[in-house]
Amino acid sequence: MSDGSSFYITTPIFYVNDVPHIGHAYTEVAADVLARWHRQAGDDTWLLTGTDEHGQKILRTATANGTTPKAWADKLVGEEWLPLLKTIDISNDDFIRTTDERHEVNVQKFLQKLYDDGYIYAGEYEALYCVGCEEFKPQSEIVDGTGEYEGQKVCAIHSKPLELLQEKNYFFRMSQFADRLLSLYEERPDFVQPESARNEVVSFVRQGLSDLSISRSSFDWGIKVPWDESHVVYVWFDALLNYITAVGYGQDDEEFARRWPANHLVGKDILRFHAVIWPAMLMAAGLEVPKRVFGHGWLLVGGEKMSKSKLTGIAPTQITDTFGSDAFRYYFMRAINFGQDGSFSWEDLAARYQAELANGFGNLASRVIAMVTRYFEGIVPPAGEYQEVDLHVQEVVRTAAADADAAIGRLAIHDALAAIWRIVDELNGYITEQEPWTLAKDEAQRERLGTVLYTAAEGLRALAVLLSPVIPGATAKLWEALGVEGELGALTAQPLRTAGDWGRLPAGTEVNGLAALFPRIDAEAVAAV
Ligand code: ME8
Ligand code: MG
Repeated sequence: MSDGSSFYITTPIFYVNDVPHIGHAYTEVAADVLARWHRQAGDDTWLLTGTDEHGQKILRTATANGTTPKAWADKLVGEEWLPLLKTIDISNDDFIRTTDERHEVNVQKFLQKLYDDGYIYAGEYEALYCVGCEEFKPQSEIVDGTGEYEGQKVCAIHSKPLELLQEKNYFFRMSQFADRLLSLYEERPDFVQPESARNEVVSFVRQGLSDLSISRSSFDWGIKVPWDESHVVYVWFDALLNYITAVGYGQDDEEFARRWPANHLVGKDILRFHAVIWPAMLMAAGLEVPKRVFGHGWLLVGGEKMSKSKLTGIAPTQITDTFGSDAFRYYFMRAINFGQDGSFSWEDLAARYQAELANGFGNLASRVIAMVTRYFEGIVPPAGEYQEVDLHVQEVVRTAAADADAAIGRLAIHDALAAIWRIVDELNGYITEQEPWTLAKDEAQRERLGTVLYTAAEGLRALAVLLSPVIPGATAKLWEALGVEGELGALTAQPLRTAGDWGRLPAGTEVNGLAALFPRIDAEAVAAV
């Protein structure tokens, strides 16, 4: 399966009106885990993320802060969005900003092509707009306001009043694409995932599509429409194009052919833009549609979608300062079924940290390294003759690795981790049962002790390789402790899809000391956050 096939994965590009919270970090981590997995499996991998900087929402935020939108975006990108990637160890290959020249120029090229080909026309428009969503709202998402907004129409998502806009706009003939979109969903059932998201999209398109307003003339913070500079491009039309302008659309055909089409990871709040508008735009331009669009669930706080606009946002550093980046990554990937909503709680995070990372994995690693050090002067012993129990460990490692890879293939990151954890549990049980400390007291059992510790150490080798996409920091320390870099090379260069093949760890290498991978966190530190 390591056929070096192309794997291009994207996150949404985030609005710079505000600072990142754990919802944004969640999407970043999921995309990063998938990218690291594929990269380590030998696929030609590219991870793209970035920021969405045009439109009325950013303009208003900048104005309210007494500055220009570009200065505001520069500040937020430099002080918040780029540092976020370091905080949670994102291995992105590129970072696109919609104010990049490479983006602006090629958005204009794309638009001009659609205009020349007759997919764009001028018309009059009057409709209710939500600046929070940056979207003219469909009837189904317009509700009556309550409290201070009594008597007004508000957005069902933001609960803020909608604005009635009357403008001359340019329109994209999206209505022409309803049938082609329906055939796409039909022919490629995994184009929109998960299933619940697909069903929602299909029933939305079945009701028919309207043409899409794609320009604005009442403000100028955006990319100019090339044939009419009194208009700027609608922010979503601009933003979606980042996925192709970042990989050479319009200027580097070879790079574009190498990367495109992409796997898009988005939150389900913006699924429709990605699964309806975006493929219609690509069809109009004669380009391939994405490989798939996966809409993950929401992180909930107090039962509601966590969001800055509702003041329930939690900054990623609030978690990483205490628990570290690895624990952040592990927790969100393990505790939430990818695709479904999940409630965040400090108690659950602390409990999983202690049980799974500290006691389960961390302790296993410390014990095995310590026993190799104590009983074999730090030299990994060779295995003698394998017994039934040892062969069982090998079987668990082999099937867990295969199951994890299959789970990643269907973007079930939580299942991949559950599969890998079968190895952690198996090895802990094995050591308890085999009692190496008892074997060590009997010189006649020396070979058996070697077999048991080789088995445990080789299991750790497999764990380090399989977990490195999820907890890159701790596994790098474990790799160092196993002392195999010289023989096997860097951890991130270990072939992932054969990680479960037994016997890669060479006997005779010298282990190094290992500090606790997941040190105990005192309860007061948790209570204080
Ligand atoms: O929509 N739970 O940007 P945005 C899980 N600029 N994920 C969450 C979340 C939560 N509570 N809150 C936010 C935009 N997210 C556009 C995108 S793409 C061409 C343009 C994540 O800053 C999730 O990925 O509002 C969601 O889709 C995204 O942040 C929205 O980010
Ligand atoms: Mg949003």
